[in-house]
Amino acid sequence: MELFSRSVELVAIPRGTPRVEDFRIVQTPVPPLGPDQILVRNAFMSLDPSMRIRMRGEDSDYLAPYVVGGVLDGFSVGTVVQSTSARIPVDSLVRHHAGWRDIAVVDAEGDSWRQPQVIEPTGIRRAQEYLGPLGPSGLTAWAGLLKVAELRPDDVVFVSAAAGAVGSMVVQIASILGNRVIGSAGSADKVDYVRSIGADAAFSYRDGDILGQLRRCAPNGIDVYFDNVGGEQMAAALELINARGRIALCGMVAGYGDEVMGQLPGNLFSAIAKGITLRGFLARMYAECLPEFTDQVSGWLDDGSLTYRYSIAEGLDSAPQAFIDMLTGRTAGKALVALP
Ligand SMILES: NC(=O)c1ccc[n+]([C@@H]2O[C@H](COP(=O)([O-])OP(=O)(O)OC[C@H]3O[C@@H](n4cnc5c(N)ncnc54)[C@H](OP(=O)(O)O)[C@@H]3O)[C@@H](O)[C@H]2O)c1
Repeated sequence: MELFSRSVELVAIPRGTPRVEDFRIVQTPVPPLGPDQILVRNAFMSLDPSMRIRMRGEDSDYLAPYVVGGVLDGFSVGTVVQSTSARIPVDSLVRHHAGWRDIAVVDAEGDSWRQPQVIEPTGIRRAQEYLGPLGPSGLTAWAGLLKVAELRPDDVVFVSAAAGAVGSMVVQIASILGNRVIGSAGSADKVDYVRSIGADAAFSYRDGDILGQLRRCAPNGIDVYFDNVGGEQMAAALELINARGRIALCGMVAGYGDEVMGQLPGNLFSAIAKGITLRGFLARMYAECLPEFTDQVSGWLDDGSLTYRYSIAEGLDSAPQAFIDMLTGRTAGKALVALP
């Protein structure tokens, strides 16, 4: 019997916030496997702000742009149902990069960051954790805080988008390690959540006066800013960061839909005057830290010191709206789509 895959295509380059009309679901026959390939039935797919950057249709040194009329991709977890790979047998659970579809044909070998990784859930470990705290989002938080910002014991940390997939882990890692941590998010509910996972102080940027709110949360300034959003929050962090402070440039989601993305804050000069280090990074630059990261974060998950929240939409048809919901702050924790 012929097998069909349902997948999501980009129909048009979105302007500003994407609309569901910018996407469409298509059904195509699944080709027979070639050498060294696997057929995966996806269980969960990840929704990431960086996908919005890839929808801008611009070549950049970040990630390859999506193509109008082409199927989207991204991290996903699923079960191997056919295999011509010696490394990956049938029934393996794998994380791979052919998301945005229910059934995927994937090359078993390739780029080391994106190639399928066999994952081994234990009795207490669920498949979605490999897209969340033990996945790229988790590595981003862990590496950004510990390797990029080089967190020190007495640092006061500020993190934006603190209720999200990356930010909620930054809050918890800093708190577990005994640092004072301040988080910002986009609603009162999210602020409560950020406090509940260990932030010493939190505020909603939607209440305005970001600089004043941050100053009240950090009367002695901040030493590390983990930047997930850019814009006004970056400017406030630059204003209040102490001499020799460090800024981990993780993402600038506030500007991904802007005509010109990644505008510099007007007060960047203070970085010179205060000797601030601003360091950009991609999680995949820290792939060699995966064993150390996995060990440490698994330990925190297992002993309950780190918890994790998901917003899970059901079914591929809901993926475009779920993506928009994630970008516009209507999800908390890691945004996923469950694929039955
Ligand atoms: N460098 C890397 O390798 C890497 C890897 C993964 C992610 N990232 C970056 O890390 C950041 C967080 O990613 P994530 O996966 O954890 O996403 P997320 O925080 O779970 O979801 C995005 C959140 O951003 C917030 N947001 C949207 N527009 C905003 C605006 N104008 N101002 C302030 N906040 C806004 C929204 O939450 P609110 O309700 O709080 O507004 C939204 O829910 C993104 O910038 C992403 O590109 C970088």
